[in-house]
Amino acid sequence: MDTTESSFIDGEIGKLLYRGYDIHDLAEKSTFEEIVHLVLYGELPNQAQLDETDGYLRANRRIPDEIITVIDAVKSAHPMDVLQTALIGLAAFDDESEDNSREANVRKALRLTAQAPTIVTAHHRIRSGLEPVSPNPDLNHAGNFLYMLFDQFPDDETIALMDVDFILHAEHGVNASSFAARVSASTNSTLHAAVSGAVGTLKGPAHGGAAEEVMKMSMEIGNPENAEEYARNKLNNRERIMGFGHRVYRAEDPRARHLRERSQALGEKRGDPRWFQILTHLSEDVMAPYRDRGIYVNVDFYAGSIYHLLGIPSDLFIPIFALGRVPGWSAQCIEQYQNNILLRPRLHYIGPMDRDYVPIDQR
Ligand code: CMC
Repeated sequence: MDTTESSFIDGEIGKLLYRGYDIHDLAEKSTFEEIVHLVLYGELPNQAQLDETDGYLRANRRIPDEIITVIDAVKSAHPMDVLQTALIGLAAFDDESEDNSREANVRKALRLTAQAPTIVTAHHRIRSGLEPVSPNPDLNHAGNFLYMLFDQFPDDETIALMDVDFILHAEHGVNASSFAARVSASTNSTLHAAVSGAVGTLKGPAHGGAAEEVMKMSMEIGNPENAEEYARNKLNNRERIMGFGHRVYRAEDPRARHLRERSQALGEKRGDPRWFQILTHLSEDVMAPYRDRGIYVNVDFYAGSIYHLLGIPSDLFIPIFALGRVPGWSAQCIEQYQNNILLRPRLHYIGPMDRDYVPIDQR
């Protein structure tokens, strides 16, 4: 079996460690900038190291005008497609794009982490007929993202909320998108290519798209009294309830707890507790019997309600997941480059054999 030092998951008991540190400690005590350092370098930074990593992120948020032009040209596409396009486009402006040394890849990982929010927010503003907002180096990563998105200085509480959301999404083993990134890296392709490929893989509703689907479902449900009938109809039609279930966890996804608490608090603060009530009714009543089958809420279940209450459009929910995950994808690729073997699964062939070729005019 291949090995990793990036993160550890015990799906039976719902345990998640980044580089050995419990996600609950990291979510409550850390910052995204610390997590970026931890995931990429393997150790929590001391103050001087954190200042250096944070300073590098703040100094590298700008994207070239040419990329803004590309974003404008493809602005009608889904934000994930735009993010993927712009990320691979950035390779053209990165002097180290073809350098696969560990040092260059860590620097590129930091630059991609810093630039990705600028892409997502510039796209949203351009498609809304507005000018992109330049990054503000006085704000931390989460605060700058919100600032570039809304062209308003966010309050500290909202910044902290976004920060913890990025922390919770930063790394998660060899999930589908990280696996896609590792497959790219295993061919000795570049970090830009691998990370943009991961963005394409994250886009699907079975992976990163679930938060958006959960919010769509909550809106269709409308109020808590309708939740049971809505979910029963879906389950009777053998449809899935989004935000439940996970390929690895057979207990509650440990990341969900932190977003549940925050979804409730934000709903109460904004005088709009309805979404949290709908979600609670789904998880505590309708889906409770599914726990016996190992189906619990996952990280995406409460995330959508938070983004919605913050006024973030629903098609930006997956890009937010991606912004948090850039360090994790990069760390997975750096591991792959370090101890590389071409990832090339074989499939069992079940098609016909040795058929006679028939010329086209005889078919
Ligand atoms: N609602 C209802 N039933 C479910 C659900 C669900 N959300 N998830 C799994 N099941 C049932 C499924 O119908 C199947 O039942 P049966 O054995 O009777 O056919 C059984 O559980 C096993 O399903 P599976 O698809 O084989 O299990 P999996 O481990 O491959 O599924 C999953 C993982 C995430 C694709 C699936 O749980 C799902 O589609 N969930 C909804 C989408 C979602 O929330 N995705 C976000 C995942 S977390 C974020 C991330 O890491 O990307």
